[in-house]
Amino acid sequence: MEVMPKSYPVVSEDYKKAIENARGKLRGLIAEKNCAPIIVRLAWHSAGTFDWKTNTGGPFGTMKHAAELAHKANTGLDIAINLLEPIKEQFPIISYADFYQLAGVVAVEVTGGPEIPFHPGRPDKEEVPPEGRLPSATDGADRLREIFINQMGLTDKDIVALSGAHTLGRCHKDRSGFDGAWTTNPLTFDNSYFKELLSGTGADIMQLPSDKVLVSDPVFRPFVEKYAADEGEFFADYANAHLRLSELGFADD
Ligand code: HEM
Repeated sequence: MEVMPKSYPVVSEDYKKAIENARGKLRGLIAEKNCAPIIVRLAWHSAGTFDWKTNTGGPFGTMKHAAELAHKANTGLDIAINLLEPIKEQFPIISYADFYQLAGVVAVEVTGGPEIPFHPGRPDKEEVPPEGRLPSATDGADRLREIFINQMGLTDKDIVALSGAHTLGRCHKDRSGFDGAWTTNPLTFDNSYFKELLSGTGADIMQLPSDKVLVSDPVFRPFVEKYAADEGEFFADYANAHLRLSELGFADD
C-alpha cells in the first residue's frame, strides 16, 4: 500500500537531542532486562485503541493512567510502564506519547527486527479511550477486521504483518489466562512465528485462536506463507505497518 506523505510537527533541537539520548538509554534497558516483548505490547496497546471515525484513542500517552491500565486487555502492562518510568523521568521534555512509541521501535530493533522510522511530536492527551477497542485472543477474522480495518484504518496485510510481533514474548497465565510462547526463541525478532503457524502447535509452541485464524482465512493465509518463506518481505511489511500503527491519529494532513 502507498503510504501517504504526512506533515509532521516541527520539534526543537533540544527535543531531537533528547529523543536520541533516550534511544540510547532504552537500548540499554531493553537489553539488560530482556523486556522487549512487553514494551512492544505496551506500544501496540497504546496505539491500537485509535478509532478513525471519532478520532479518539491512539498513541497519545494515555496508557500511563490507571483507568486505561485497568482495561482487561492491558493486564500486566503496568510492568512495562514501571520499567520505563526511570528513563522517562530523565527526559521530561519528551511526551509520554512519543516515549512509549520510541520504546516500541527500539525494542523491535534491539531484538534483531527491522528499523522503523520514528517521527517525534505526538502530544499527550488526557482522555482515556473506552474499553473494548483492542482484539481478544478468541477473536475470529470478522472481529479482527472490525478492529484493525474499520476502527483503526489498517489493512488485511497489516493484520498479518503486525501479528508477526508475536515472534517476541509469550502469554502469561496470570495476565491473559493463556500460557506459552509462539516460538522457541522469544527474544529474537525474526519470521519464526509464521513458520510455526504453518506447522501447527507442538510441545513447546502455543497459538491463540486469533493466530490460527491467519492460517485458516483465505485472505490472510497467503501473507503468512510469504512471510514464512521470506524474512525480508516480513521485515519490510512489518516496518511499514508498525510505523503507521505508531502514528495513528498523528500528523494527518
Ligand atoms: C491480532 C490481534 C492480537 C491479539 C488477539 C493479541 C493477543 C495477545 C495476548 C493474549 C498476549 C499475551 C499477553 C500475556 O499473557 O502476557 C499477547 C502478547 C503479545 N502481543 Fe499480542 N495480540 C494481537 C496482536 C498483536 C500486535 C499487533 C502486536 C504488536 C505489533 C502484538 C504484540 C505482542 C507481544 C510482543 C506480546 C508478548 C508480551 C510479553 O511477552 O509480555 N500483539 N498478545
